[in-house]
Amino acid sequence: MQTEILKIAIQKSGRLSDSSKKLLKECGIKIKNGGGKLLSPATNFPIQVLNLRDDDIPQYVEDGIADIGILGENVVLEANKQVEIVTRLGFASCRLSLAVPKSDTYTDVSFFEGKKVATSYPQILGDYLQKNQINAEIHKISGSVEIAPSIGLADAVCDIVSSGSTLFSNGLKEVEVIMKSEAVLIKRPQLSEEKQSILDKLLFRIQAVKKAESSKYILLNAPNESIPKIKEVIPGMKSPTIIPLADEGWSALHSVVVEEQFWEVIDQLKAAGAQGILVVPIEKMIV
Ligand code: PRP
Ligand code: ZN
Repeated sequence: MQTEILKIAIQKSGRLSDSSKKLLKECGIKIKNGGGKLLSPATNFPIQVLNLRDDDIPQYVEDGIADIGILGENVVLEANKQVEIVTRLGFASCRLSLAVPKSDTYTDVSFFEGKKVATSYPQILGDYLQKNQINAEIHKISGSVEIAPSIGLADAVCDIVSSGSTLFSNGLKEVEVIMKSEAVLIKRPQLSEEKQSILDKLLFRIQAVKKAESSKYILLNAPNESIPKIKEVIPGMKSPTIIPLADEGWSALHSVVVEEQFWEVIDQLKAAGAQGILVVPIEKMIV
């Protein structure tokens, strides 16, 4: 009988929170009370969701208040706690960048010598400046970093950039990328065997969801003589399914293609004689 419950910390509100909840949902996990409470148990999986400020997640995971967590890699790196990155999750991509007022002339990183830089990432910024042998004053603020230059609090900022609209609307321009980041899943190094096995089940589901997102199911018709060529283009998970059509000399082929190669594959299929190509999303993919 299973007695342990895996506690997962996710961001309560912000850039990652909707996608984190969506991922759990796509893994078939139903969260009680819509997941809005500080602590929300799942009804059909041995997991409990803790909704926290993302900056607090590394500490909670290190202390074992949460067993695992979903947060930005940037936050993990800045916190520098005893936690392990288990997997990257492929959403909430962003960069941690240096930005200066649009009207400033910028040539290279020496611009920051003797300047005052506002950030919520003093560790990462400190390492970066040291590596580039720049002496600058780091001014730590925990929110609304982007307004610091306009109110005279700093000459520049080091902050997360996603679409770039926050910088733009504050009259700033991105000049250096310090790191690229995305959502990751972290765990505390020592998990009980039972909790580890719940995590393994969750990871299995996450992989199936991610795999499905990056794949498409493709159906097409082709004259039989084109089949060998088409099989080379779309090998499928094992090999494509081939079904004869009522029309003599024609077949339907079903297969799976990877999203990144999608348009290239379509061009090759058309050139090989494929017709009536249909592409449909895959919900889950177990390989
Ligand atoms: C970051 C950053 C900006 C915003 C940038 O916040 O501080 O406010 O995202 O996004 P944009 O380029 O699309 O405008 P984030 O949610 O990472 O930080 P927080 O957890 O401190 O709120
Ligand atoms: Zn935060």
